[in-house]
Amino acid sequence: MSIATEVRQLGRHDGASVTVRGWVQTTRTHGKVAFVVVRDGTGIVQCVVVQKQVPPAAWELCGALTQESSVAVTGSVRADARAPGGYELAVQDLVLIGPSAEYPIQPKEHGVDFLLDNRHLWLRSSQQRAIMRVRNEVEQAIHDFFYQREFVRIDTPILTAAIGEGGAGLFEVDYFDERAYLTQTGQLYAEAAAAALGKVYCFGPTFRAEKSKTRRHLTEFWMVEPEVAWNDSADNMRLQEDFVSYIVERALARCRDELAILERDTAPLERVAPPFPRIEYAEAIRVLQARGHEIEWGADLGAPDETVLASDYDRPLFVMNYPREAKAFYMKENPADPRTVLCDDLLAPEGYGEIIGGSQREDDYDRLLRRIRAENLPEAAYGWYLDLRRYGTFPHSGFGLGVERTVAWITGRPHIRELIPFPRMLTRIYP
Ligand code: 4AD
Ligand code: MG
Repeated sequence: MSIATEVRQLGRHDGASVTVRGWVQTTRTHGKVAFVVVRDGTGIVQCVVVQKQVPPAAWELCGALTQESSVAVTGSVRADARAPGGYELAVQDLVLIGPSAEYPIQPKEHGVDFLLDNRHLWLRSSQQRAIMRVRNEVEQAIHDFFYQREFVRIDTPILTAAIGEGGAGLFEVDYFDERAYLTQTGQLYAEAAAAALGKVYCFGPTFRAEKSKTRRHLTEFWMVEPEVAWNDSADNMRLQEDFVSYIVERALARCRDELAILERDTAPLERVAPPFPRIEYAEAIRVLQARGHEIEWGADLGAPDETVLASDYDRPLFVMNYPREAKAFYMKENPADPRTVLCDDLLAPEGYGEIIGGSQREDDYDRLLRRIRAENLPEAAYGWYLDLRRYGTFPHSGFGLGVERTVAWITGRPHIRELIPFPRMLTRIYP
């Protein structure tokens, strides 16, 4: 009898007879010996098939196996220093589970549209698998960071009537007799929960009907949004730099192999540690103008602006206190300069741009109401949000970190579409 096992566990069964199930990556035959490389999701193993040691049907199958056929291989585990993972299988039997004729993705260069059309298959390739493992590590690090600090995770609604980030870029949904939207942010609900639980965060998919085709925008992306009672903007930025440093450290500690597969130069990531540099928005505008950028005080920063600003530093850069008009309605007026709000964007180095948007929230009822009206937001939908300022208002701050942009930076991938298993973009809802 053989023991069913995963490739990752082969070392525990040295010398024993095991069965591994997986997908065929490659096959090659040399006379009476064949080599079948099988991937099972936990690892890759070379299976050595010697004609006279296997049933005739198994030998015949060996010659006919195609890329991505699923198989069950039984064999004895043998240590081999040259093998990936350190072990190979001396095959005793080989059974076909599912054939795979004319697998569309071949070991050659394919165009990205073709690969995206075949995203459900593309995920099986080595770089995509490495990316998903880094993403998984980052998501786990996010939860661990907040759990260790005794934050409470709050799941916020995806269907909402309260617009979070302004009218542009909303997906409308028929909600019986009312109009609803797919949420752009869980923040407003996290604020309510912060008054109940102090330190909270939400983590989930968020939606923006982005009409822009850039390498940094998805229409569905995942965001983690902590919200902390009594934190001011400075506390908020300290939390961000600790958080981002922790995530990067975890990826470096636990995804070495994946980052190597992705050919990521990790030296810039090793430098990521608090404190991060901070500049005021007004200063950023002066720097950009001096470099010939056509930008005036009042405008939001564009991707090229962010790249230039961040390139002066070897770790992520905070740009603080933007003009009110450039930012969302809920940000707190800056007492030092009421034309601006107490906020920050965190810009990743190496051209990756904004990965976090954060702010202290407007906690004054009248000022918040004025902002809701000035932005022409449907006041009735914000009654509950204004209540948070009516019943025991409190200084509080929070931020949102985009998972895909963060993983793009950590893995060094140029386009955000590869960082999510099934990207949603302006022209892509399939597969
Ligand atoms: O700056 P944003 O719009 O901030 C918020 O949504 C706040 N409610 C967060 C908060 O304070 N709780 O978005 C936050 C982050 C951005 O920095 C970026 O990383 C990511 O979300 N993001 C996107 N990622 C992919 N595609 C898009 N279209 C994105 N829009 C924002
Ligand atoms: Mg932003």
